[in-house]
Amino acid sequence: MARPEAGLKIALVGCGSMGSALLKGWLSLPHLETFWVISPREENVEPFLGDPRVHWISSPQDLPQTPDAIVFAVKPFLLEDILPLYQSLKTLILSVAAGKPLSFYETYFPECPIVRVMPNLPVSLHQGVLGLLANEQVRMPQEAKVEMCFQKLGFCLWVNSDEEIDKLTALSGSGPAYVFYLMESLAEAAQALGFEEKQATSLALQIFVGASLTAQTSEFSPAVLRQHVTSAKGTTAAAIQVLEKGEVKALITTAVRAAFDRAQELGKQ
Ligand SMILES: NC(=O)c1ccc[n+]([C@@H]2O[C@H](COP(=O)([O-])OP(=O)(O)OC[C@H]3O[C@@H](n4cnc5c(N)ncnc54)[C@H](OP(=O)(O)O)[C@@H]3O)[C@@H](O)[C@H]2O)c1
Repeated sequence: MARPEAGLKIALVGCGSMGSALLKGWLSLPHLETFWVISPREENVEPFLGDPRVHWISSPQDLPQTPDAIVFAVKPFLLEDILPLYQSLKTLILSVAAGKPLSFYETYFPECPIVRVMPNLPVSLHQGVLGLLANEQVRMPQEAKVEMCFQKLGFCLWVNSDEEIDKLTALSGSGPAYVFYLMESLAEAAQALGFEEKQATSLALQIFVGASLTAQTSEFSPAVLRQHVTSAKGTTAAAIQVLEKGEVKALITTAVRAAFDRAQELGKQ
């Protein structure tokens, strides 16, 4: 795909959990030239100000020029107050907010190319999953800019509907939290067996790292790998039996469904 010649100048609106994860991921990409981070409080941006490409500004009026892209990384319920402040800027509009459909942004930026992006926290380590949904104004040059911003941050998946973005919100957007929850549970189980808290956490983390790398580099699916380490009547079988009895898989499906329903609800608010 043709790439814009010059580096990109990005305005990032919001530097909380997701805004700072994106910024951290971006700072190792040399083709992104300038970041104007718009945040009510400088302290949110402070950890990044050692990089000469990062500038904190408190309001869009202080933007020195129209950026190549504006990335909204604020809570969805704030968008109705915040988007009108940016309406005069005719540029590529990107939003990572859960729930709000493309049509919502089109009411504020009717002539602009807009892309909904659903990232997750590991974008900071270039290990994210990112769903992308473009409106009709997005053409090749804007698509190239979007790819310059996001391609290196993880596995990117272009989708065709808000519903698919909502599904990715429930799966990959929230996914790290599900994994942290499982890590937390395993650490608690280790503590229940008598390990002290720090050891228990280290054990749980390394179990996830080791198992993830094994699954990623193996020719077998996670289901087959699990069977390989579960011998009949052995210790793992005893544990799996308890998980099956508790219908943990069905519970996870119900949990992801609840996140999907919530994403759709957010879109209607
Ligand atoms: N966290 C995730 O894993 C994740 C995953 C996918 C998508 N998202 C989406 O990312 C968005 C942000 O979520 P988050 O978890 O990063 O929330 P967050 O940690 O609360 O961050 C939001 C940031 O926006 C700032 N903010 C508030 N008003 C602002 C304004 N007028 N202009 C600029 N910045 C303003 C807040 O500053 P103060 O701290 O000073 O209030 C805060 O730092 C949400 O729409 C969410 O759906 C999040």
